[in-house]
Amino acid sequence: MTEMNLTKEAPLEEPARQYYYIAKAEEYLKRQAEELGRPLTFCVTTFGCQMNARDSEKLVGVLEKIGYVEEAEEEKADFVIYNTCTVRENANMRVYGRLGQLKRVKKTNPHMMIALCGCMMQEPQVVEKLKKSYRFVDIIFGTHNIYKFAELIVTRLESERMVIDIWKDTDKIVEDLPSERKFSFKSGVNIMFGCNNFCSYCIVPYVRGRERSRNPKDIVREIEGLVSDGVVEVMLLGQNVNSYGKTLDEPMTFARLLQEIEKIEGLERIRFMTSHPKDLSDELIQVMKNSKKICKHLHLPVQSGSTRILEKMNRRYTKETYLELVDKIKTAVPDISLTTDIIVGFPGETEEDFLETMDVVKKVRYDSAFTFIYSKRSGTPAAVMEEQIPEEIVKERFDRLLKEVQDISSEVCAVHTGTTQEVLVESVNDHDSSLVTGRLSNNILVHFPGEADLIGKIVDVFLEECKGFYYIGRRI
Ligand code: 5AD
Ligand code: SF4
Repeated sequence: MTEMNLTKEAPLEEPARQYYYIAKAEEYLKRQAEELGRPLTFCVTTFGCQMNARDSEKLVGVLEKIGYVEEAEEEKADFVIYNTCTVRENANMRVYGRLGQLKRVKKTNPHMMIALCGCMMQEPQVVEKLKKSYRFVDIIFGTHNIYKFAELIVTRLESERMVIDIWKDTDKIVEDLPSERKFSFKSGVNIMFGCNNFCSYCIVPYVRGRERSRNPKDIVREIEGLVSDGVVEVMLLGQNVNSYGKTLDEPMTFARLLQEIEKIEGLERIRFMTSHPKDLSDELIQVMKNSKKICKHLHLPVQSGSTRILEKMNRRYTKETYLELVDKIKTAVPDISLTTDIIVGFPGETEEDFLETMDVVKKVRYDSAFTFIYSKRSGTPAAVMEEQIPEEIVKERFDRLLKEVQDISSEVCAVHTGTTQEVLVESVNDHDSSLVTGRLSNNILVHFPGEADLIGKIVDVFLEECKGFYYIGRRI
């Protein structure tokens, strides 16, 4: 990195301020490593969604710049970081459970530091609980100030206190900080942050704040940089990508942004998530239809098939308008793969409501669906709704739904058998090293004979046999 004068005060502007702290942390770490006679190590665990996965790459980027070396085994690491999720209660329980174990490990390693960040930290009662019962945690920060990681590390290294820094919301987007990609050939790219939808069950608007879109020029510049570094596929990330650009000084649609990104030479594939059905425009469908690079996959969360429940969820579409939208998409892009999220057991859900959901599943025939049991999140409107559904009923509905979803998806997946498709090779197969694993444009996995040097390349593969959710193929 460039020379940085650390005798001066930290600059106030970003990202210069963080580069100052990275350099400062690097000095502290060098000294620690000399004393120990070995480099210091870190282990980041990511809970939750693709947004969090991308945030973790930013954390890793900072850690590696500072001089930490990755350690796969958490118990051996000098710095353990949990990037948390709070979308459902069980995500929180897992974090508390693992923290309990870490406490024991920390007693045996005096150098160990623990940092917690991400969505769960944006909940005030969580931070209260940590302050009270988990005093061994070193750093706690939230979703809005993740870019300050280096500064928080320095604050901790210079004091013996627990460092807590949580912001309620922000309108700031800090660009150009380091990040370390998990895959050399594909990358997530944030196009917007936060969410303004306020679905009544969802905690995300409270923990990720108001919707903010990144400037299209910054997005394109970032992708161009990634492409020159070997990336061929990007996943554009946002809680509601279809409302991209509405809050920019010069408003712009998501469809237009896609067209700009399509022009980037060397970029082969464009994916995006998540789409809200209420904001999915005809313009976007046309752009998808005419694009050479946008993958034939759309994740379109339905959440429920009952118009009555959708209204209580504040989703702002009906069963009918959702099905019409699906028809429109399938007509324009016939080989599209559709996936969805479904919640079972929302307050007030009757057997009839549930059957409406089953009906949507049968009509749309999703390639796959993520099914969730409704989880009460305090602070959301649904948490105080009457008629919370008893667990046994929810479980029974959930099992029925899961079976339907799986039966349909194995049928839908199989329709490509006997065709040749482009596959982006992602890895050597976990179980059989004579095979490599890649993804079709529609996101389905394929295993076929090949060597590690194919990783990151797009090759033609003949799909010989469908095994339910994936294919076995051979290179053509
Ligand atoms: N309970 C269960 N599932 C939820 N999701 C969001 N909030 C809840 C909740 N309170 C699901 C939705 C969303 C996905 C990311 O998580 O289906 O699309
Ligand atoms: Fe979890 Fe939602 Fe946060 Fe993603 S944005 S990590 S799903 S709470």
